[in-house]
Amino acid sequence: MFYICMCNIVFIHQPKGELQMGANNKVISILKHSDHENSFSSQATDEIIKRAQARTNLFEYNCNVLENMVLPPVRDEYITIKSSGDSKSDDEKNAWAKIVELSDNLIKSDIWLFSLPMWNFGIPYTLKHYIDLITQQGLFFTYDENGPAGLMKNKSAILVISSGGIYKEEPLKNYDLSTAYLKLWLGFCGISDIFVVRVDGTAMPGFELEAILQDPSIDRAVEIISSQNYPGKAGDQAAAA
Ligand SMILES: Cc1cc2nc3c(=O)[nH]c(=O)nc-3n(C[C@H](O)[C@H](O)[C@H](O)COP(=O)(O)O)c2cc1C
Repeated sequence: MFYICMCNIVFIHQPKGELQMGANNKVISILKHSDHENSFSSQATDEIIKRAQARTNLFEYNCNVLENMVLPPVRDEYITIKSSGDSKSDDEKNAWAKIVELSDNLIKSDIWLFSLPMWNFGIPYTLKHYIDLITQQGLFFTYDENGPAGLMKNKSAILVISSGGIYKEEPLKNYDLSTAYLKLWLGFCGISDIFVVRVDGTAMPGFELEAILQDPSIDRAVEIISSQNYPGKAGDQAAAA
């Protein structure tokens, strides 16, 4: 197996025969804030993928690193445009083409894995910038008779969120706006199956990443990626209902 790095995107290539290509292959789209070697969220994400690979080769993944990407500005006139209209300026058409390009991996994948630190109780500006660019009517949501409706169906999301403090319990529980915001936004896009891995307490005395990597939440994330019947998959939700 070898890896090819193109810009921010890493594709796994395996020798012919080793990777069982086909309809059963899941696609995981990883979006990292950073892939710096000391990044806790990145290291935890890499460990999840490594363990999932040890279980099965019935998935492929791509990885985009927001910190390394040059994102265009978010402009109000880009939000509602569709490039097909002849009346659109070249600037607007180019902006729309870029938005479609940036959205492509997520739209085509089965599982979204977002890997990020908590910054000032919320998400880093890199991810917010990306979300503000791609969250477009016709791509991620539409409107029906009941109002906004997410277009992302049969997908699951895994959030690997690292924080200096510990927010899963009181007194800080209500301060974690990163998880709350991402769950809300994912729900808006149509994804309700969301699993959170907390790489937390990194600023606390005695923190060791190794201990977090032994947490059952890491195993569950591995399970979601490596299982053919991950929770968001079509049919499973119907079966569970
Ligand atoms: C700009 C900035 C803001 C931060 N804000 C918070 C915060 O609100 N709460 C918290 O617990 N940690 C905060 N931290 C600490 C990071 O969340 C923590 O170091 C995390 O483990 C970094 O993850 P990473 O190594 O994946 O980047 C902040 C760090 C930075 C650089």
